[in-house]
Amino acid sequence: MSSNPEGGAPAVRWSPANPHPLSQLKTELVWEGKYDEYGRRREIDPAALAMPMQRIETVDEPRQRAEAQGELDLFEKSVAGRKRDAFRNRLIWGDNKLVLASLLKEFKGRIDLIYIDPPFDVGADFTMDVPIGDGKETVEKDQSILEHVAYTDTWGKNTDSYLHMMYERLTLMKELLSEKGSIFVHVDWHVCHFVRCLLDQVFFPENFLNEIVWYYYNKLHDSRKKLLPRAHDVILRYSKVQGAHTHNAPKEKRDEPVKKLKYKKVDGQIQNIIGPDGKAVTYISEDRTVDDVWRIRCLQPANIEETLGFSTQKPEDFLERIVRMGSNEGDLVADFFCGSGTTGAVAERLGRRWIMADLGRFAIHTSRKRLIELQRKLHEEKQPYRAFDVHNLGRYERQWWQKDRLKGAEEEHRRVVLEFFKAEPLAGAPSPLLHGRKAGAFCYVDAIDGLFTRQEARAVASAVAQAGGREVYCLAWEFEMELRQHCLALEAELGVRMKLIPIPREIMEKNRKSPPPFLEMALLEAEPVVSGPKGQRTVEVKLTKFLPSLAEVPGKELEALKERAVRSGFDFIDFWAVDFDWQPNQPFHHDWQDYRTRKDRSLKTVSDAVHTYAKPGTHTICVKVVDVFGCDTSTTLEVRV
Ligand SMILES: C[S@@+](CC[C@H](N)C(=O)[O-])C[C@H]1O[C@@H](n2cnc3c(N)ncnc32)[C@H](O)[C@@H]1O
Repeated sequence: MSSNPEGGAPAVRWSPANPHPLSQLKTELVWEGKYDEYGRRREIDPAALAMPMQRIETVDEPRQRAEAQGELDLFEKSVAGRKRDAFRNRLIWGDNKLVLASLLKEFKGRIDLIYIDPPFDVGADFTMDVPIGDGKETVEKDQSILEHVAYTDTWGKNTDSYLHMMYERLTLMKELLSEKGSIFVHVDWHVCHFVRCLLDQVFFPENFLNEIVWYYYNKLHDSRKKLLPRAHDVILRYSKVQGAHTHNAPKEKRDEPVKKLKYKKVDGQIQNIIGPDGKAVTYISEDRTVDDVWRIRCLQPANIEETLGFSTQKPEDFLERIVRMGSNEGDLVADFFCGSGTTGAVAERLGRRWIMADLGRFAIHTSRKRLIELQRKLHEEKQPYRAFDVHNLGRYERQWWQKDRLKGAEEEHRRVVLEFFKAEPLAGAPSPLLHGRKAGAFCYVDAIDGLFTRQEARAVASAVAQAGGREVYCLAWEFEMELRQHCLALEAELGVRMKLIPIPREIMEKNRKSPPPFLEMALLEAEPVVSGPKGQRTVEVKLTKFLPSLAEVPGKELEALKERAVRSGFDFIDFWAVDFDWQPNQPFHHDWQDYRTRKDRSLKTVSDAVHTYAKPGTHTICVKVVDVFGCDTSTTLEVRV
């Protein structure tokens, strides 16, 4: 050590015996959030993140219809010899960090191929145009706040938060991969250099397999820019276990035969034949093994036969190459950023099992519709396919929020809800059911794990009437079916207008300050129609009224749309389905459905006469409508046959 000439602490003399720490650093990608304040690596705790999943729908169509019409034998015969297993594919709505952690218990080491296409453009968001009615008009769908939250989590601190988000997910995905599994991570020039380092860290460099360049040669370019048009993405492939991964080498036709020199062995040495005999070269024309540059077209917005309203939708032929290459029939394929559901659609067609997740409601709705349509097509072609279920983490997300942030206190929950709703809490209220006031109306906040029922609605309306009020906002996480119709009757009886407002999930966002929109719930009315010859117990369902909630319409368009929503609410229906034998607390079973596609904008408002009850009696029918924004509303009907 030498003394500092300026008289401060003695300067350190670095030397081979006392090396400077920087001289000893190994290559490592560091981002903000990777280490904690004590310099320790922040590890993920899957057990703390895992939560039970809720199965909300089962889709088995048109098998169900075949069953109802006694066609099942025919259908079963058509798939005989290629018997499917009982596995039910899964479409999961929720943040994939929680989804991945929750899948570990059942699927650790069981997924054979993962393809992910995470968002990688900081400027991109979830806003999109969705067609309404006959499709002549479109309306801008705002990003839901949940999507906004994910977006901020991903890009809030630019590359740092993106890398941390990816690091956590990749670590969990590795746990899910099977020994023969591999992962394909789709990125572009924005982040591919960083993600390659991340993957090296999580999967190790020796498991790196390929850096595939997808050259989408048909993209239209802006020639005014002072750079070469960007026309490729990069797909990074890593195996879970070195050399153990499934690899079915893809082949393709050669553009033209390749000229190759002939060789011969002379004294153990290879020499090419040169000579006057004219046989020195051969022509190779058989299929070639595909290399790591893939020339595959991309989807253009004008290509309405294939596009589903997702600007990032990938072509099926591109995914087909990945799925065929990295898996075999019956293998389990997953995509945790599934968007429009391309991976699941391809996996289904190729006889693979699949799991997909996305946090966008619109993405889940688009994927569900796409997979139902595919099931129908495969059914018509007498090809086998599997049933699938739709799951979510919604209810559990709320319980987690309650435990983690609200520390279990119901009063705190009420306070937070009223604050976001911009209502005044009511101290010394005339009834324990009156929690707040907003612009002359009372407010009632239902319990965090509650379902707002008819009995509660009646009790609240009576309390409001007794306190001399005429209007009440009922804020709840969940409402009993048909409650809106029931409240209209209460209004007539007690003279109290009841506004049913679903509490937006978005208020659970960490550090959220600005209130998300609180909009009245959609109104759906339908009636059963007993059709067909007497005594046959065949029932159809007729939609009679729909008023969408418009929760995801940007403010500037809201007024114009409100008017249209009242005038022609059916224009806002994108999809509807019927469960003819609905049971409380059971997933919704898709017995029948109809939907608009980008090509065919028509929609039936009466279901086909597909359902015949085996036994006479009273049955409960549940009708579910999904609007063009991907939000769903249900109602139940009783039918006596
Ligand atoms: C580029 S798109 C995928 C497109 C898809 N490959 C296709 O062919 O349609 C990315 C998707 O990731 C979803 N996403 C973003 N962050 C997510 C998260 N944390 N959890 C689940 N999904 C997420 C978005 O909602 C979006 O649908």
